[in-house]
Amino acid sequence: MRVLDRGDQLRTELDAARAAGPTVGLVPTMGALHEGHASLIRRSVAECDVTAVTIFVNPLQFNDAADLAAYPADLDGDVALAAAAGADVVFAPSVAEMYPAGPPAVTVHVAGEDTMEGASRPGHFDGVATVVAKLFNLAGPCRAYFGEKDWQQLRVVRRLVADLSFPVEVVGCPTVREADGLALSSRNALLSPAEREAARVLYRALATAAIAKAAGECDARILMVNMVAKEPLATLDYAEVLPDRLLVAARFGNVRLIDNVGA
Ligand code: PAF
Repeated sequence: MRVLDRGDQLRTELDAARAAGPTVGLVPTMGALHEGHASLIRRSVAECDVTAVTIFVNPLQFNDAADLAAYPADLDGDVALAAAAGADVVFAPSVAEMYPAGPPAVTVHVAGEDTMEGASRPGHFDGVATVVAKLFNLAGPCRAYFGEKDWQQLRVVRRLVADLSFPVEVVGCPTVREADGLALSSRNALLSPAEREAARVLYRALATAAIAKAAGECDARILMVNMVAKEPLATLDYAEVLPDRLLVAARFGNVRLIDNVGA
């Protein structure tokens, strides 16, 4: 497996691979890789000839400096996990490599995503869309693998590809969960043992609300709100019910977690 830190290296490597015919799979991440990322990498390895994993904690998508500073990082561990999952290339650029002139003057603006993550994290999706557009430009035509845990992000990336005509097929992959239902997230590592225990309420609320919604029994959103409110270590950010999805976000101490299930 090759570890690259320059955009021109990634472009050259993947262009050369494609010239010989192979399909390129791209797995964009912010590092602190876990089994959820490994499942994306393994799926790309199974479906593509060459798999590149990108590791870049993108400052543009953080609207809270403390959140950015606390974001977990473990490049050696990430490289080992990517290699074990079968990746061919890891691209781990610095901030200066990605944004050589400082914060970019030209960015991608995402309109219409002003609820849920869009409301709680102003500018977040502009930052995501800008860095993903950059990564797509560097990688070239590819299949790109994203987790459904970030369901709203997946919707934004699909829209980015459609609106700006990137030669990219976006593949959404199921959320990977702990045995007790907690969705895997790089942020889980920041939870105290008591917060980790409390965080189980998210999936419990989603699963209970999904059953209630299917049965048409009660207001699924209020059910989630009430269940999270009963957990003393949780502070609800939002609970939403869409025709095909139930979504929730809450804080446990300083750690903000999101999750969703199909409905
Ligand atoms: O989901 C993530 O890890 C990030 O938002 C992404 C898509 C890699 C963009 O920085």
